[in-house]
Amino acid sequence: MTDFPGFPSGFVFGAATASYQIEGAAREDGRGPSIWDTYSHTPGLTANGDTGDVACDHYHRYPEDVALLRDLGVDSYRFSIAWPRIVPQGSGAVNAKGLDFYSRLVDELLAAGIEPAATLYHWDLPQTLEDRGGWRVRETAERFAEYTAVVAEHLGDRVPRWITLNEPWCSAFLGYSIGRHAPGAKEGRGALAAAHHLLVGHGLAVRALRAAGVREVGITLNLDRNLPATDSPADLAAVVRADTQHNLVWTEPILAGRYPATEEETWGQLITGADFRLDGDLELISQPLDFLGINYYRPIVVADAPHREADPARRVATDNRYAEVRHAGVRHTAMDWPVVPDSFTDLLVQLKKQYGDALPPVHITENGSAEDDTVAADGAVHDTDRVAYLRDHLTALRAAMEAGVDVRGYYVWSLLDNFEWAYGYDKRFGIVRVDYDTQKRTPKDSYRWYREMIAAHRA
Ligand code: NOJ
Repeated sequence: MTDFPGFPSGFVFGAATASYQIEGAAREDGRGPSIWDTYSHTPGLTANGDTGDVACDHYHRYPEDVALLRDLGVDSYRFSIAWPRIVPQGSGAVNAKGLDFYSRLVDELLAAGIEPAATLYHWDLPQTLEDRGGWRVRETAERFAEYTAVVAEHLGDRVPRWITLNEPWCSAFLGYSIGRHAPGAKEGRGALAAAHHLLVGHGLAVRALRAAGVREVGITLNLDRNLPATDSPADLAAVVRADTQHNLVWTEPILAGRYPATEEETWGQLITGADFRLDGDLELISQPLDFLGINYYRPIVVADAPHREADPARRVATDNRYAEVRHAGVRHTAMDWPVVPDSFTDLLVQLKKQYGDALPPVHITENGSAEDDTVAADGAVHDTDRVAYLRDHLTALRAAMEAGVDVRGYYVWSLLDNFEWAYGYDKRFGIVRVDYDTQKRTPKDSYRWYREMIAAHRA
């Protein structure tokens, strides 16, 4: 295998996971309930009724998982910290046992020569905060800053890279508008308020991390490459609305200190006179970052569509008069996501064009594919489609770098097969297979491919 894309020296190769997706031990050592416990335990919301109660049992097996990372040869490991382990009731008492777990994990990583990269919020909001309004209310952002300060005080000297939020689009819009993620709400203004309070929470967390003196601070966004189904003016306008909802609602405040100019045409009266925005919020949200984390999986083909709800009072925030169309002529993964590596290059190059010097260095904090893996007679997993996906996306990333985008690192999603949210355990993204009956880990061919690529890079 000599077809490895070459990367500059110092480029960071990593692997990523998230707390609720792998840890299990949902009721151990003082962890409080999160919105994902509630959601996954509500009948009918996740595939097969799957929950994260046990997941990959990483909470108990983290030494084995760190050993897998060490053998893989990654420079960095991106994991997330479960807020309900640290502040089980969302505010008030801090749970020392929760802090201890992450402290042990961080020490194990450092001893293996792996740089920890910690995400503070990967969707497991303490349920008590949801009961008080969740991200619809500003208080949640304030509690998030308090939790961040506690974690930074304990781990700030040992964790060099910090990510405030993971994919706030999912928290705000899948969580409060589409209802396919916890807390499962279907709202209009509530979802837009959630988006704003997530941004405020990010800003307050940046401030807390700076006060603790950590080395690098960033946020992870799932920016989308929205492609028009046709060149018709109607489809092109639909792309603007999709871009506003998926991208600009985050990048404009964070990178440019303003709200999207296209928000009125996207949300109409849902955004008019938004009273959840306060003076000073934009300054807070647009504090300089050391890096921007980007998760990329696929492009989205967008066509004009009428409002799903004729009655304006019943419209949710994602009713933006566009529909997703199937991408013709390309392979689709087990998620039914189209595989189009070039659009990864285009997304990054376009972002650089849009924001110029205001774009901080980029880390690709997630990229990978779910495939219908099978276990061969010899126990191996020959996941050739995943290997091709990773190789082609790394090549596309390299092309973006050659075109002038400053990319510093790449984290494969995911180290392990894990709880894929509403899809439960049906969808496997890991480069290591997990047998959920035995918790046995089996490195797949993609793990070996990635290991060889990293080794070749170092040679
Ligand atoms: C994005 C999310 O951050 C992660 O939790 C999820 O598993 C992957 N994408 C794959 O859908």
